[in-house]
Amino acid sequence: MTPRRNHLTRVPGLLYGGDWNPEQWPEQVWAEDVKLMAEAGVNLVTVGVFSWARLQPDADSWDFGWLDRLLDLAHRHGIAVDLATATASPPAWLVRARPELLPVTADGVRLEFGSRQHYCPSSPAYRDAAVRLTRALAARYRHHPALALWHIHNEYGDHVQECFCPASAADFRRWLRERHGTIEELNRSWGTAFWSQHYNSFEQIEPPRTAPGPVNPTQLLDWRRFCSDALLDLHRAEKAVLDEVSPGVPVTTNFMSMLKALDYWEWSRHEDFVSDDAYPDPADPRAHVNAAMNYDLMRSLKGGRPWLLMEQAPSAVSWRPVNVPKRPGLYRLWSLQALARGADGVLHFQWRASVAGAEKFHSAMLPHRGTASRGWQETVRFGTELRRLGEIAGSRLRGRAAVLLDWDSWWALELDDHPSARMRWPDLLRPWYAALYERGVTVDFVPPTAELDGYPLVLAPNLYLLDTVTADRLTAYVRDGGRLVCGPFSGITDRHDHIHPGGHPGPLRELFGIVVDEHWPIPDGATTVVRLDGAEPHTELHAEHWSEWIETEAAETVAHYDSGALAGLPAVTRNRLGAGSAWYLSCHLGAGPGPVLDLALAEAGAGAELPDLPAGVEATRRHADDGTGYLFLLNHGPHELRVPLPTPGTDLLTGTEAAGAVTLAPLGAAVIRLPAAQERP
Ligand code: GLA
Repeated sequence: MTPRRNHLTRVPGLLYGGDWNPEQWPEQVWAEDVKLMAEAGVNLVTVGVFSWARLQPDADSWDFGWLDRLLDLAHRHGIAVDLATATASPPAWLVRARPELLPVTADGVRLEFGSRQHYCPSSPAYRDAAVRLTRALAARYRHHPALALWHIHNEYGDHVQECFCPASAADFRRWLRERHGTIEELNRSWGTAFWSQHYNSFEQIEPPRTAPGPVNPTQLLDWRRFCSDALLDLHRAEKAVLDEVSPGVPVTTNFMSMLKALDYWEWSRHEDFVSDDAYPDPADPRAHVNAAMNYDLMRSLKGGRPWLLMEQAPSAVSWRPVNVPKRPGLYRLWSLQALARGADGVLHFQWRASVAGAEKFHSAMLPHRGTASRGWQETVRFGTELRRLGEIAGSRLRGRAAVLLDWDSWWALELDDHPSARMRWPDLLRPWYAALYERGVTVDFVPPTAELDGYPLVLAPNLYLLDTVTADRLTAYVRDGGRLVCGPFSGITDRHDHIHPGGHPGPLRELFGIVVDEHWPIPDGATTVVRLDGAEPHTELHAEHWSEWIETEAAETVAHYDSGALAGLPAVTRNRLGAGSAWYLSCHLGAGPGPVLDLALAEAGAGAELPDLPAGVEATRRHADDGTGYLFLLNHGPHELRVPLPTPGTDLLTGTEAAGAVTLAPLGAAVIRLPAAQERP
């Protein structure tokens, strides 16, 4: 089959390449670069991410000659370019001329030049200069035949996520005015009657700089919202220029997986497609589970449309305390994992290993040792394999259950002075995701505003902050036949982080048919026994960090506490409402809520992608528009395994027919094309 049209850019098939930083090299090296890129099957390179100082040597001069030559060279060799706007690292001349653009910490320290990402998100000086550079690049290269994609900035939120300088303070006040309208309304929303925090005017408000004690939580929550919006405004300013000057060329910026600082639901609305940078740690034996979770999120941000793995490391990174390389086969397996979860390309940081600078020990597609290296051999081998998979471009996969993710709730959950500081969103989410992953259930992430009808099961590991509109929607979903499973410390506050009156879980009380009498955090290191009722033998689970004294109102008890102060009280409940049911877990089952989720999965009829999947194998299925299925089978384990196939098909990696079962070597993989006629719609 010929490669399908790639929906991300005009480049056909799957995308393969990396960050190319030619400004670090003499031009003779470029000729070798493009020759080797062709050998590796590279079809897209990201150029210019950190080139500002080279492109604009001072306020009034530009140097585009080198970039002209570079783009021409790439084009002559059939390599398309993802051209960066180069705005992530303002040059020294600009910083010295306008020192106020440097970011300031909550303690009042102005961060120095000498690294990267040294800018205040609300600085007019930085924004004007960034927009000017973007416009100059767009005007010069909009018609260049090598240009396939615009890459705005780099990893917003990396290094600097907030700034406390006077410009940020002014911008924060503007944002607050727009959001709250009047100072009376702000006082109400922030609950400033507490501790005499009343404001007479917006001018009296400052960012939440370091203060003697706990800072107003709603001020902190609004600050989180503002900081995400401030960076997004900056991004949109560049995007607007590209859309105006270079229409028709897609635009993206590289996300950083599940990043707390940025509300990616909001951000992704402004992307032509989602791209992500992912650096799972080869030293972590569970890294692939976390990676799967992040990739599911990236796919979900634009409703299941293909996304791009914009950066991964070919082997080791250089920024961990200990940087373990990828053992042979791991790079290939993890690259295929991104494709298995909806990516239409695999790009890297970076093409050629640097010899100077803070990242000179970071792996690259072309390592320091050159073409004799193991890394290069893997680069070439995977490039060849990727070409065999070209037909999967544009195909999609859809989860069998949905996980609710709300940045607002995440930010609020992790504010200070809560019953336990151990309730962190990633820690609450991971065991739920891992339990689903181990059961072979692919999940989509959804925002609280999503249509849930298509999902037989919706999971909410935590919904600390919850407005009544969302609560009503969840209730309607259950009444109409949906199954909802919700974790502890949910339904606690409204959008201003004020406690819902009338007992927790506030607006979800009727839905779950329970009331929380008191939160009962568990000390570090201790656990409380939770026993699943009705199961044989009586399954024993262990709650860590968190439990709740709950009383059932309409719900039935599914599991109860069997040790400690809450012994005998319900721990997990189910409430049948309308045509569906709502499950409530009042504790954090750190080792995994799997046995509880099994019950909910069975009730919802939501199952694994493949039955009888051996432990350690990940299976996902993408579908093309014509119904052709692509079954990805990835063996993350150390042993050879046999995986039964639902129907015969063709392994695209080997070109061989596969029927009955396939054998996967340790770290081995198969991508089986399943004919449309035998696939579910
Ligand atoms: C991030 C950045 C890159 C590089 C890599 C190193 O993804 O975007 O510029 O620093 O990390 O892992």
